[in-house]
Amino acid sequence: MIEKNIQIAAYVFASILFILSLGGLSSQQSAKRGVYYGIIGMIIAILATVLGEEVKGGYIYIVAAIGVASVIGIILARKVEMTSMPQLVAILHSFVGLAAVLVGFGSYLDQHESLPGDPEGPVKHIIHLVEVYLGVFIGAITFTGSIVAWGKLEGKIRSKPLLYPGRHVVNILLVIACIVMGVLFTMQDGTNGMLYLYIMTGIACFIGIMLVMAIGGADMPVVVSMLNSYSGWAAAAAGFMLGNDLLIVTGALVGSSGAILSIIMCKAMNRSFFSVILGGFGEGSSAGSATEMEGEVTSINHEEVADLLKEAKSIVIVPGYGMAVAKAQYPIYDMVQTLRKSGKNVRFAIHPVAGRLPGHMNVLLAEANVPYDIVLEMDEINEDMPDTNVVMVIGANDVVNPGAQDDPSSPIYGMPVIEAWKAEEVIVMKRSMSAGYAGVENPLFYKSNTDMLYGDAKDSVEKILNYLKN
Ligand code: TAP
Repeated sequence: MIEKNIQIAAYVFASILFILSLGGLSSQQSAKRGVYYGIIGMIIAILATVLGEEVKGGYIYIVAAIGVASVIGIILARKVEMTSMPQLVAILHSFVGLAAVLVGFGSYLDQHESLPGDPEGPVKHIIHLVEVYLGVFIGAITFTGSIVAWGKLEGKIRSKPLLYPGRHVVNILLVIACIVMGVLFTMQDGTNGMLYLYIMTGIACFIGIMLVMAIGGADMPVVVSMLNSYSGWAAAAAGFMLGNDLLIVTGALVGSSGAILSIIMCKAMNRSFFSVILGGFGEGSSAGSATEMEGEVTSINHEEVADLLKEAKSIVIVPGYGMAVAKAQYPIYDMVQTLRKSGKNVRFAIHPVAGRLPGHMNVLLAEANVPYDIVLEMDEINEDMPDTNVVMVIGANDVVNPGAQDDPSSPIYGMPVIEAWKAEEVIVMKRSMSAGYAGVENPLFYKSNTDMLYGDAKDSVEKILNYLKN
């Protein structure tokens, strides 16, 4: 058991560690340190809460729950592939939402705030009811929205946006119904408002489903970070209900950092933030472009690619989701080292939404020990494209689609892309002509300076490396 002031001090310390953790995660060099800060902060937070005055017993159950959850967490984290990380993140957000809903119901049933004789009793009681109502509302939206996001990312639910006429009006009417019931809920004594809470939870669950169902495939990155933000606000609401300052601070940190990330990603994809948070943006994302492809697709073999690379002075590699699937980052870095040893300028070009989660490509390249100074952001490298001899597009597709710049009928029109086609020669390494995540045809494959090298990315890079070494 620890005293209240020690608990407060521990909470302040944990909050500082969480802030340092977020700061650390903002760059690759300090990311590991950021993760350690987070782990230590969380251990302190859990110990200070469990040993605090509010917990009056039942330690055995708490330890057992932490033990079982930790085992499940470790197994899941070890098993999950880098390519399935967004799904894992989405389902974890749904747990936060569900926890907020359960805390809300529990807190409502445990009405210790309105003690008779307390002069501030009625006001406290109403404030508490508002906290409960809001917490359950945000939690329920996060819960079902995250499950739908998981289903879409996992391919269990079709990624085509589900749109119906008048859906914005329906959504607004549902929100108004929730507000009216909220007012009625706060006017009830004891636990008589349970019915309102149940109905609102049902409506909020429905809103969560419809918001994410209305979002198309290519826009899922923003949805995942937006749900991350919602889960933070749900946790903050739970903190208010439980009177736990640390949970409020942590929830607000997650909520606001998730919102900032969503805004950054909207900018990267040239989308409006509000149309995303209101759902239904990315309409027609999987409908594909109406424009007919012009030009002819030509292919190349591994030996010819190796010859081109031997001739080139400046080479840019654009990795995408296919590099993650093929786990090609290790042979790619071997190839880069070989090329750099023979005096070539080899750099990586990273698109902000390449892969399936923010920073996906950076993490994979860091895993293979690629030095940070040759890994450039899209904006840094685009101006060098006309002076580049060879661009190798390895398992990327949407992020190098010229249609985003010159085809207004394309669903990804307006999204900034890596201008690979401006280089002298482009080699696209993928297994077939099939579309990327957005489901759009790519005119780059039909350009006269582009050659396709079909096959698994890792296999292809290993073969090229063989020719380069011999
Ligand atoms: P995509 O456009 O999805 O293209 C990936 C390409 O990799 C596919 O066309 C596929 O073609 C190829 N591929 C798959 N497995 C391969 C393998 N083993 N070897 C070689 N190639 C392989 O990827 P991108 O260019 O990275 O763009 C990302 C897309 O995902 C964007 O639309 C983005 O909005 C979306 N998204 C991003 C995120 C975040 S936060 N980054 C999250 C969710 C969605 P083949 O089948 O022909 O091989």
